[in-house]
Amino acid sequence: MKLELARRHWYDYMMAPRLAYLISTIDKEGRPNAAPYSSVMPFSGEPPRVVFASRTDRHTLLNVKETGEFVLNLVPEEVLRQLMVCYKYFPRGVNEIKEAGLTERKSKVVKPPSIEECVLWIECKYLLEVGFAPEIADHNLVIGEVVHAECNEGFLKDGDLDIIRANLLLHGEGLRWFTVAKRALGNDTAVLEEKKGGK
Ligand SMILES: Cc1cc2nc3c(=O)[nH]c(=O)nc-3n(C[C@H](O)[C@H](O)[C@H](O)COP(=O)(O)O)c2cc1C
Repeated sequence: MKLELARRHWYDYMMAPRLAYLISTIDKEGRPNAAPYSSVMPFSGEPPRVVFASRTDRHTLLNVKETGEFVLNLVPEEVLRQLMVCYKYFPRGVNEIKEAGLTERKSKVVKPPSIEECVLWIECKYLLEVGFAPEIADHNLVIGEVVHAECNEGFLKDGDLDIIRANLLLHGEGLRWFTVAKRALGNDTAVLEEKKGGK
């Protein structure tokens, strides 16, 4: 079946599901904000850098540019309802973390709070925004330097992320569906064995 490229947000259909994050920020008056984002990825390991795509009118992007910091909070299944509250439009300055009934947690290096109920927290400093003319792209790219990362103890097992317990939320097409990452493939699978010693 041919997939329709002209369809609005076609990549939501073809390049999904994607991990869901709540990005927490503050404005220049120190008021927290949180919004769901799934166009997020790591793109440099050494030094550690992340990138996310944002529409230019998002309060998240305005805050990042204003105060220079953000936190990627990785979302477990149990936070889906609260994520959808953060998705709603609130006027600038309204604290969506509070509105959603989530708990603010003091971050270790940056000023924006992390979200206690999330699986792990990636604290970032804003490095660069890559903007585009409308005919090139309708979202800008925001690049961040990772300055601290920490896993919520409640989602750890034997010092590692417990992927089954975390039940990571995955974002599907638009708002039509979400799914979860439920099953772990251990490092003893035949496929992984074959790769041993490779790059
Ligand atoms: C699961 C999910 C993922 C989303 N991913 C993105 C994204 O990657 N980039 C973006 O600009 N908007 C994304 N959105 C839309 C924003 O979350 C939404 O417009 C939000 O209200 C923005 O809030 P803010 O203005 O407080 O930043 C996503 C929404 C949902 C529900």
